[in-house]
Amino acid sequence: MLNQSFAFLFCLVLAVSAVPRPSQPCTEGTKGISVPLRRRTTLKTPAGVFDKDKAIAATVATKNKHRQNLINLKKHKGPAAFPAVRSSNKPLAEIPAAILGALLKKRQAELLTDENEDVEWAGTISIGTPPQNFMIDFDTGSADLWVPSSSCNSTACSLKSKFNANFSSTSTKVPGSFTIQYGDGSTASGPVYKDNVVVAGVHATNQFFSPVTTLSSGFAGAPVDGILGMAFPSISNLGQKPFFNTAASNGTLKSNAFGFFLAENGSELYLGGTNPKLHNGTIEFHTINSTSGFWQVPGASVKLNSTAIFSKFETIIDSGTTIMYGPPAAVHTLYSKIPGAAAFDAAYGFYTFPCDSVPSISFSWGGRDWEITSANFNMGQTAEGSSDCVGALAGDDLGLGSDVWLLGDSFMKNVYTAFSFNRSAVGFAALM
Ligand SMILES: *[C@@H]1O[C@H](CO)[C@@H](O)[C@H](O)[C@H]1NC(C)=O
Ligand SMILES: *[C@@H]1O[C@H](CO)[C@@H](O)[C@H](O)[C@H]1NC(C)=O
Ligand SMILES: *[C@@H]1O[C@H](CO)[C@@H](O)[C@H](O)[C@H]1NC(C)=O
Ligand SMILES: *[C@@H]1O[C@H](CO)[C@@H](O)[C@H](O)[C@H]1NC(C)=O
Ligand SMILES: *[C@@H]1O[C@H](CO)[C@@H](O)[C@H](O)[C@H]1NC(C)=O
Ligand SMILES: *[C@@H]1O[C@H](CO)[C@@H](O)[C@H](O)[C@H]1NC(C)=O
Ligand SMILES: *[C@@H]1O[C@H](CO)[C@@H](O)[C@H](O)[C@H]1NC(C)=O
Ligand SMILES: *[C@@H]1O[C@H](CO)[C@@H](O)[C@H](O)[C@H]1NC(C)=O
Repeated sequence: MLNQSFAFLFCLVLAVSAVPRPSQPCTEGTKGISVPLRRRTTLKTPAGVFDKDKAIAATVATKNKHRQNLINLKKHKGPAAFPAVRSSNKPLAEIPAAILGALLKKRQAELLTDENEDVEWAGTISIGTPPQNFMIDFDTGSADLWVPSSSCNSTACSLKSKFNANFSSTSTKVPGSFTIQYGDGSTASGPVYKDNVVVAGVHATNQFFSPVTTLSSGFAGAPVDGILGMAFPSISNLGQKPFFNTAASNGTLKSNAFGFFLAENGSELYLGGTNPKLHNGTIEFHTINSTSGFWQVPGASVKLNSTAIFSKFETIIDSGTTIMYGPPAAVHTLYSKIPGAAAFDAAYGFYTFPCDSVPSISFSWGGRDWEITSANFNMGQTAEGSSDCVGALAGDDLGLGSDVWLLGDSFMKNVYTAFSFNRSAVGFAALM
């Protein structure tokens, strides 16, 4: 992903046992290891104004990430497993030149000062023997691991940690290459290697990944070195098991599930189960549509003030996307029911609402209504002093299907989210 939604404090807690004992019932939380991760580029300026350039760049990046996922899916599963409503052959989305120019200027300043308040800290992973460390973003909306390579000459690699296979005794180069295109005219690409990857004590041996030798300028200002994808192998560009699945098959996890808690402070990714200390009550699980390669939950409704506006659509839960996206016509209809709402940017599907009455929007999968709080829905004023604010739900055709909504951090911050391979389900629970 290139969606720089690195705005949280994260911490990683792991339920790991040193000696794999797969038959033991999961006693989550008793052996947690906490790796705090801090972060974030928000889509708001410090004055609380919506940063449209950044939001457009994030949208373009999200589109291209999922475009690549669909290309990968088609390659691995064939056109037959690929519904007509999806489109892997959409053209690459591009950031308009004027916006790109402004963003590059900002990034250049960030690179030079290294005083970027957004550059905080992320979660550490290590690759190789002896370990080489990287700060990475955990992305449930992609399925590959990549970090910069020591032979990366791109400016975007300059301030990042880089992997050198020559210094790892367990590294093996394998045939093939990794590539992902972004909307700013560049590509992240590199060779493919297998090596041992460790995240806070969870081991994946012979994990496939790419040390990328070219890196999009979009990553220059990102407070992470690379991405660790946590979706399904069928959308992997490398066509290989992601880290979590390798670790599970290596028997180093207590349970084949992970949980996300995203908040202003104390965010956490819990590997090997879910953390009962962070949710109030039981987790409401929903079986995913396993043909899709995503953490895709069918049977969703979207509600405005508890009245369902649309029902029976699918939702992809994506920690690597900042906001929420729905089909343009549906999102238009939804905002048209909100008094005072108006289109803000037709090309990118952003809408405004009166800042003094943030709409109550919730999603439901047949159980509870999971409401988006005002703070999470409100992306800031359109301009300083304006009484109009921009909503965290945009209308955009991402090619994922005419009936598929993409729910990123703006949704995930309202709930505890469980991702269970074991149950083939995503679960939501109330926060403490
Ligand atoms: C990076 O630059 C060095 C020195 O100019 C060159 O030898 C190398 O091939 C370049 N690497 C890539 C990936 O372009
Ligand atoms: C690794 O070693 C090989 C052989 O000495 C050399 O050609 C290559 O440039 C080295 N790679 C890096 C990333 O240092
Ligand atoms: C871990 O899993 C990978 C991929 O499935 C496999 O290649 C490797 O041998 C396994 N290692 C152990 C120690 O089980
Ligand atoms: C796997 O899921 C089943 C229910 O589908 C549950 O009974 C079992 O405890 C789970 N196992 C683990 C290790 O989480
Ligand atoms: C997060 O932590 C900071 C620093 O400790 C504190 O000032 C702030 O109020 C906290 N925010 C929330 C939402 O708890
Ligand atoms: C599962 O996803 C596929 C691909 O998007 C779609 O064609 C199918 O209708 C979905 N199934 C359910 C039960 O939603
Ligand atoms: C939602 O309900 C509140 C309180 O009843 C009301 O003030 C607001 O106008 C309603 N919003 C919409 C979009 O119906
Ligand atoms: C948990 O949820 C219950 C029922 O909604 C509520 O009464 C209680 O205050 C909540 N507990 C915490 C710690 O938030």
